Amino acid sequence: MPIYFSSTFADANIVIWKIEEDEEFFWASSNLKLPPKDAYRIKGYTNVYKRVESLAGRYCAHIASGGQVNFQCFENDPPQADKGYLSIAHTSGYAGAVYHPLVKVGIDIEIISRLVRDRIFTRFASEDEMKTGTENYNRLVLWCAKEAIYKAGHLKGLNFKEHIKVEWNTETQGVGTIHFGGLYKIFALRNVLIENHLICVLCVENAQL
Ligand SMILES: CC(C)(COP(=O)(O)OP(=O)(O)OC[C@H]1O[C@@H](n2cnc3c(N)ncnc32)[C@H](O)[C@@H]1OP(=O)(O)O)[C@@H](O)C(=O)NCCC(=O)NCCS
Repeated sequence: MPIYFSSTFADANIVIWKIEEDEEFFWASSNLKLPPKDAYRIKGYTNVYKRVESLAGRYCAHIASGGQVNFQCFENDPPQADKGYLSIAHTSGYAGAVYHPLVKVGIDIEIISRLVRDRIFTRFASEDEMKTGTENYNRLVLWCAKEAIYKAGHLKGLNFKEHIKVEWNTETQGVGTIHFGGLYKIFALRNVLIENHLICVLCVENAQL
């Protein structure tokens, strides 16, 4: 389908795709110019859904960056753009990306029905955050926020519970921080519930709410 959701927040462009195409659609697209190493990695995935989601994520990155940016993706590192910053996420049937021309950004998406059980929740939420996590929806939004901040942080060795903190000022806007060693980073957060089905959280470093 065409774009499922798109928006701009603090100069960051967000694009989300609902995947109804098969992988041939993306391979055949002249828009998607993947570096050979990345194309080789994706072709090597035995799971067809993983292949198509990875391709769709890169497709979103291409659109979000206005088609004018070259980028490379890595297995355990943030995507690297030749201008600005990119982040990619995928989940069953959906992919998304966010692009900012100047500052680091992060994105995560999850289907609203995904359960965050106590055992997992207590591993990533701080004591304060646990007080606000009685409902599964709030737990999922917190999880997505921490994933997005982790991706934007570009720092190895971050622990979600200790180093990444999230505070919501309103239902949809908040602030995320990373305290790690002597480093302090701050991110504006925005969460969006799309069609009562898909949660998307994005963060933009040093942005004003
Ligand atoms: C990197 C990580 C955030 C990816 O999340 P995920 O849920 O597996 O996958 P998503 O669909 O949300 O995002 C995948 C994209 O993130 C990007 N990515 C991968 N590693 C990354 C990193 N270190 N930093 C930023 N972005 C990264 C890639 O673009 C990837 O897309 P691709 O696989 O198509 O190339 C996750 O695997 C991770 O390592 N989390 C931190 C570990 C942790 O502490 N978790 C538990 C805390 S209780």
